[in-house]
Amino acid sequence: MRRLKLDRFTGVVSAGKEARVYRAIGRDGKEYAVKIYLTATAEFRKSIQKYLLGDPRFQRIDTSSTKKLFMAWARKEYRNLLKMSSVGVRVPKPYLVYQNIVVMEFIGRQGYRAPLLHEIYNELDSEELYSIYEIMVEEYKKIYCCAGLVHADYSEYNIMYLDGEIYIIDVAQAVSTSHPNYLDFLKHDIGNIYRFFTKQAKLKIQNLENLMKEIIGCKIVCPKK
Ligand SMILES: Nc1ncnc2c1ncn2[C@@H]1O[C@H](COP(=O)(O)OP(=O)(O)OP(=O)(O)O)[C@@H](O)[C@H]1O
Ligand SMILES: [Mg+2]
Repeated sequence: MRRLKLDRFTGVVSAGKEARVYRAIGRDGKEYAVKIYLTATAEFRKSIQKYLLGDPRFQRIDTSSTKKLFMAWARKEYRNLLKMSSVGVRVPKPYLVYQNIVVMEFIGRQGYRAPLLHEIYNELDSEELYSIYEIMVEEYKKIYCCAGLVHADYSEYNIMYLDGEIYIIDVAQAVSTSHPNYLDFLKHDIGNIYRFFTKQAKLKIQNLENLMKEIIGCKIVCPKK
C-alpha cells in the first residue's frame, strides 16, 4: 500500500476469474483502479502459452512459479497500456506495476465505474452507435499501425463508455505484431467489431473484407515518438 501510494481501498469493482479490480483512493486524493491477478485458472495457463510466450518481448520469462507468471502478466498489461497511451490510444492511464498488481486511471464517476459497451448499447441511438463504431476502428488502427500491437480481446465487453467517449481496457493479452499468430488475433478482433455492430447494434456498415482492408491499410498519421 505504501509503495503504491494508495490511501485506502473503497470496494471491489469487479471480481473476474483471474483478477479483481478495486477502486482505491490515492494519497493525492484521486481515485485509481487497482487490478490484482490472483487465480491461476486453466484458462490463464492457456493464455500464458498463447499470448505471453509467443510474444518476443516476453520469451525469456521464468515459468517455474505461478507467482512469476502473475508478475509477468501484470507487467505485460502495464507495458501494453504504456505503449498504447504513448500513441494516443484511449486506455486508462497506467500509473504503476508492482508484482501482480497494475494501478491505472479509474474510469467512472462519483465512485462508480463507467458501463461497458455491451451493458448500454441498447440505450444508445444509431447515430451514437455509429460514432462509437468509427472511434473503435480508429482506435484499433492506432493500436495496430502506431503501437505495433494487436489487442487480442477487442470486444464490447472490454470497452467502457463515459460521456460519449470510449476507453479500451483489459490489454494484458495484447501481443506485438512480431508474434507468430498476430494475424489470427487481428482477424478475430476485427471480426468482433463487425459482428457486434451488424448483429447487436444493427448498423449498416461496410462489409467485413473492406473493414479488414481499411484497418490493415493503416491510413493514419501516428504521433511522432
Ligand atoms: N480502469 C478501470 N476503471 C474502472 N473500472 C475498470 C477499470 N478496469 C477494469 N474495470 C472494471 O473491471 C472489469 C474487469 O476488468 P478487465 O476486463 O480488465 O479484467 P478481466 O480479467 O477481463 O476480468 P473478467 O474476467 O471479469 O472479464 C471491467 O469489466 C470493468 O467493469
Ligand atoms: Mg475483460
